[in-house]
Order: sequence, then structure tokens, then C-alpha cells
Amino acid sequence: MSHVRVLQAHDSHLEDLITAFGKRHYFVRQLERQCAGHGKLLVAWTDFTTPAGAVYLWLAPAQEPELRAGLVGVPLLTDLEVRPAFRRQGIATRLVKEAESLAAARSHRLALGVSPDKSELHRFWRNRDYQPWRLWLETTRDIFQDDGTVDREIDYCHVLVKNLVSQPLEGVL
Ligand SMILES: CC(C)(COP(=O)(O)OP(=O)(O)OC[C@H]1O[C@@H](n2cnc3c(N)ncnc32)[C@H](O)[C@@H]1OP(=O)(O)O)[C@@H](O)C(=O)NCCC(=O)NCCS
Repeated sequence: MSHVRVLQAHDSHLEDLITAFGKRHYFVRQLERQCAGHGKLLVAWTDFTTPAGAVYLWLAPAQEPELRAGLVGVPLLTDLEVRPAFRRQGIATRLVKEAESLAAARSHRLALGVSPDKSELHRFWRNRDYQPWRLWLETTRDIFQDDGTVDREIDYCHVLVKNLVSQPLEGVL
């Protein structure tokens, strides 16, 4: 794999992100949210020039009341994506690890939602120690339109949670 570095996105990266992923309005919105202190947009760059993957760490209160009540203060890992040409090289794993270390500074857990029907994704998360917390949670998905408006669609997901604090080993002081 070429050299990969994960960095927090900056406003000056906007055009590079749009060229790489499209999703103009999505990135504009996430950079605004980041600027307001509501989250962190992390980008994996190959050779410092090409955005290969991204993830948004949601640090604001969750939109879903069940998450706000049941996972108080727990950051959410959202919108993990690696561009097809860069998949299966460990880039998503790098992004997730970076998000986990940022989350660990604020909470002992990290949560995310996965579509119930994506068994390969469930295996991906299970292999990274994420456990089911709530099944079939009703959630809203933001659909960013070309004119900059956002439609909200009802969706269902399985919520997974990882304990970021390593458990002390029995018998070890
Ligand atoms: C899922 C995804 C982020 C993985 O990115 P990646 O950089 O290829 O992942 P890594 O190289 O770090 O790890 C490879 C893992 O992805 C799994 N994987 C490969 N293709 C996959 C796919 N289409 N769906 C789910 N998982 C997949 C592999 O089985 C492997 O898992 P393992 O290490 O536990 O065996 C990428 O396929 C993607 O962007 N998919 C579309 C968006 C998406 O589904 N995002 C997740 C939302 S929860």
C-alpha cells in the first residue's frame, strides 16, 4: 500500500474532497459542523495528495432520542467510506482506529449504526470488537440534494457499541 496518513479535514481540503468523493453538500455540511465543534471529519490521504477514505466522528448529542438517553455522551462513528480503488488495503481500519483514539479522550465507548441487511459489514465491525447494543433502531438518514437542501428519510439500523477501555486482566496488578 502507498503511504497513508489520516488527518482531520480542513476547509482548504473541500475541493479535493469533492473531486475525490463528490458529495459537495455533505462535505460542506460536515466542515461546518466540525467548525462549530460538533464533530471531526477525518480523511485518509495517500501520498499526501489523494483523499482515499473518510469518516465523520459525531460528537454532538445524537439526533435519535434513544441514543441520547441510552448512550449519554457517547460519540458516534458515521459515514465511513473508502473509495473503491483503495479498498482492502487497511484504510478503513486506520480511519476507525484514529476515530477511536479521538473518541477515547471523551468517552469510554464509541457507537455506530449499520444497515441490518449488510452481513459483510456486520462481520467487519464484529472483527473490530463492536457489539450489538440495540436492534432495529428507527433513525433518520440525511439525503443531500444538488441544490443544497437536505431531505430526511426514515431508516432502520442496528446500533453497535465498542468499549474503548481495555478490561484489566484478572490476577494482574
Ligand atoms: C466497508 C469499507 C469502509 C471497508 O473499507 P476498506 O478500506 O476496504 O477496509 P479495510 O481494508 O480496512 O478492511 C477490509 C475489511 O473490509 C471488509 N470488506 C471488504 N469489502 C466489503 C464490503 N463491500 N462491505 C463490507 N465489508 C467489506 C473485508 O472483509 C475486511 O474485513 P476484515 O478485515 O474484518 O476481514 C468499504 O468497503 C466501503 O467504503 N464500503 C462502502 C461504504 C460502507 O459500507 N461504509 C460502512 C458504513 S457502516
